[in-house]
Amino acid sequence: MAKPERVGGARSMRALERILASKGIPLAPDGDHPREENPGDPDWHRRARAEYALNRWQTATPPRFRTAEATLPEVTAWADRALADTASAGALLLTGLTGTGKTHQAYGALRRIAAGGPDRFEVITVNSADMYGSLRPSQVMGAAERELRRLSEVRFLLLDDLGTAKTSEWTEEVTYRLINYRYNHCLPTIITSNLPARNAEGPDLTDFVGARVASRLAEMLTALVPMIGGDRRRGGRAA
Ligand SMILES: Nc1ncnc2c1ncn2[C@@H]1O[C@H](COP(=O)(O)OP(=O)(O)OP(=O)(O)O)[C@@H](O)[C@H]1O
Ligand SMILES: [Mg+2]
Repeated sequence: MAKPERVGGARSMRALERILASKGIPLAPDGDHPREENPGDPDWHRRARAEYALNRWQTATPPRFRTAEATLPEVTAWADRALADTASAGALLLTGLTGTGKTHQAYGALRRIAAGGPDRFEVITVNSADMYGSLRPSQVMGAAERELRRLSEVRFLLLDDLGTAKTSEWTEEVTYRLINYRYNHCLPTIITSNLPARNAEGPDLTDFVGARVASRLAEMLTALVPMIGGDRRRGGRAA
């Protein structure tokens, strides 16, 4: 049988301290305890939230991007805004040719938010072609609707590679329902695409998503980052 801990032992003192801290009562004046062990300390709470959020980030991140760090100033600034005020963060759109580092920056942005210790951190990261695949009406009643609701409502969404699937009325409708929900509820959304936001001479994102989604995206967009440079997979560097 485990020996009961004596009252006043380190563990029971910590438990007591936690209970008192949750009621806003410090057990002892600051300085008597190491700061990292003091749950009444706002910084202790922030670190605990960051640890939890980084775990969730890691689960949502494929191994290739687990070391990703956002390095572009527009991307880090967007992540900092999303951390400070989720409702006004809007959307971050990264565009550019293949291999320029869009997905890397996107995962890096989410990691930066997590490391900042957000109040809540639910995140879904999805490749858009996979998303359309999982939203096709299936044998399981309501499964696609449930999945669409999950993607629409999650606090942070990364929609990777929008514009690679073949367009149809159905893809337009799904994209509309997803973006319209996130637009209405002011939910932070990161989108990457090989298509430029606008292109008078060729296909652009508006052609893919349709005018109604493009209009909502234009209002949601608080950072548009066109990435330039070579294909990093072939040894190309950012310009
Ligand atoms: N800043 C960076 N530092 C180190 N490695 C990077 C950086 N940016 C991208 N990479 C690496 O370069 C490769 C291509 O990056 P990434 O997948 O982000 O490109 P992409 O623009 O999303 O390409 P695609 O349009 O084909 O999806 C990946 O292996 C990624 O880990
Ligand atoms: Mg990518």
